[in-house]
Amino acid sequence: MSVPAVRRRTAILVSGRGSNMTALLEAAADPAYPAEISVVIANKPGAPALEKAAAAGVATATVDHRGHGGRQRFEELLDEELRSRDVELVVLAGFMRILTPWFVERWNDRLINIHPALLPSFKGLDTHARALAEGCKLHGATVHFVRPEMDAGPIIAQGAIAVRDDDTEETLAARVLGVEHALYPRALALVASGELRVEGMRVLRTSGTAADPAPLLVPGD
Ligand code: GRF
Repeated sequence: MSVPAVRRRTAILVSGRGSNMTALLEAAADPAYPAEISVVIANKPGAPALEKAAAAGVATATVDHRGHGGRQRFEELLDEELRSRDVELVVLAGFMRILTPWFVERWNDRLINIHPALLPSFKGLDTHARALAEGCKLHGATVHFVRPEMDAGPIIAQGAIAVRDDDTEETLAARVLGVEHALYPRALALVASGELRVEGMRVLRTSGTAADPAPLLVPGD
């Protein structure tokens, strides 16, 4: 990658351990990466991801979701924090709050999420157990633009693995997490470089020259 003229100012929103955040920070440490991580924001004071971000030299902030008497005030404070830092893109990485249509529409097509399943299958929680219970042979992860409906929205990229006969929820989760760490930085790079356009539920490439026009597909090893 050559050094981009503009690196998109990006915030990562977290609630927990932040392994996807770490993968994104590592990618963005390269000056040629088209997004720079301006801030990591947690909705939970003391979220382990905050310490990891600070150790990597990235600015952190906490906007506690509690104590505001409702979602609206929390989201206004979050929005103010993002705008005060001139953030252009918002990346959800294990952010365990449902965002209201007000916030989602303010950040339309600039707000992305990763979900540990091949959407539109298995929206919501416990995706690995449900994929096993349904006998899926393929499972994986999806990066998508956020829309008001949970785990819906135009799909940017997906990564798949083969389900093994001896898989448990835990082994499946671990392999899908590996896919997530490879997938999310590549999906954010596509969004940040302005190479995508959204047509309804479809995300299409505006130029075909950059690396990898196809979704990431990681075969089972
Ligand atoms: C990931 O599995 C992600 O897909 C889901 O929440 C988990 C967050 O893990 N939305 P981490 O905090 O990035 O390690």
